[in-house]
Amino acid sequence: MPGLHLVGLLKRFGKTTAVNKVNLEIEDGEIMTLLGPSGCGKTTTLRCIAGFLIPDEGEIYLGDQSMTDLPPEKRGIGFVFQNYALWPHMTVFDNLSFGLRLRRVPRSKIKSRVDETLALVRLSGFAERYPRQLSGGQQQRIALARALVIQPRVLLLDEPLSNLDAQLREEMRFEIRELQKNLGITAVYVTHDQAEALVLSDRIAVMNNGIITQIGTPEQIYNQPNNRFVAGFIGLSSFVDGIVTGLDTARAYATVTTSDEVAIRVPAGSMALNQEVTLAIRPEHITLISDTSAEVPPDANLLEGEVIRIAYLGDVIDYRIQVGGWTLRVHTDTDTHLRPKDKVQLMIPAERINLISPDL
Ligand SMILES: Nc1ncnc2c1ncn2[C@@H]1O[C@H](COP(=O)(O)OP(=O)(O)OP(=O)(O)O)[C@@H](O)[C@H]1O
Ligand SMILES: [Mg+2]
Repeated sequence: MPGLHLVGLLKRFGKTTAVNKVNLEIEDGEIMTLLGPSGCGKTTTLRCIAGFLIPDEGEIYLGDQSMTDLPPEKRGIGFVFQNYALWPHMTVFDNLSFGLRLRRVPRSKIKSRVDETLALVRLSGFAERYPRQLSGGQQQRIALARALVIQPRVLLLDEPLSNLDAQLREEMRFEIRELQKNLGITAVYVTHDQAEALVLSDRIAVMNNGIITQIGTPEQIYNQPNNRFVAGFIGLSSFVDGIVTGLDTARAYATVTTSDEVAIRVPAGSMALNQEVTLAIRPEHITLISDTSAEVPPDANLLEGEVIRIAYLGDVIDYRIQVGGWTLRVHTDTDTHLRPKDKVQLMIPAERINLISPDL
């Protein structure tokens, strides 16, 4: 199956630019997630790919074929909508066969295609039910079957799990990924749920205000966010601004000094002296040291701080620690028992600190 390629895709609604010159290459058989906050342009991007919206600028290719001028039913795309409404007055069989009749699939083939697809989503025997006679999870699987029954070249899924309870949503993540991989179908998945994106994607494109701010594997997006939006939207990060005041000779490390004169050692990357940088630090990468005999690796930072807020999150304790004029979030296991105003030492390995450009 061919890959999907968006080139300079732009869509405006009046004065709103919903999708702003998006370039995206989705490989054959890949599941790519568009992840971003409400209103960032995810659904609009999908609707342009499906052909329900005509972009103002840009091209959409499936393999070598431009799809920009094709009507939706000629694009070979299966779509699961954000509100997965099945047609309530139609049986499951009619919901599934509708798209086949639209594409003039011969009557003799329709029944076998519907049966095969129902088996794929493990709902054989449900053909004569009406949507109201199905549970939420079953309705969701029928919506997926309705998208798959036309044997699409590309599958588009717009927040397909948003109406399900937490437990079912978690199960369905794995089911969707497994099905997509078994069928080898190219897929674009839309969500604003970071956990969902991390679990089921080959790669994630993080969107904000109509643009893609970073594309990468779940590991890359989580461990090496390259801008403040990504670092803050996926997982938690504390941000610290500073200036590069030292580069060691081997250029393995740099020293970044904050406006309140705290020096922090970080990986040098491609930094230059006197450059302004923002450091992004994950709460789970900071260790609180109460025991002064604890071993500290030679390249780690040791900072002094004071506890200002404590939140119990069940599996971890979330501390807000004041260090100079800024604060760091720290997650520890639930064995620590610090109180507000306690003085603590923080240990942060240099290589765990992400450098992001303050401009972005
Ligand atoms: N038909 C429309 N007419 C006018 N403005 C629209 C239309 N559809 C979307 N928009 C606007 O375009 C922007 C992007 O909307 P879109 O539906 O793509 O967001 P989204 O990322 O899917 O958000 P959500 O997570 O809430 O579903 C929003 O500002 C929205 O108000
Ligand atoms: Mg949407």
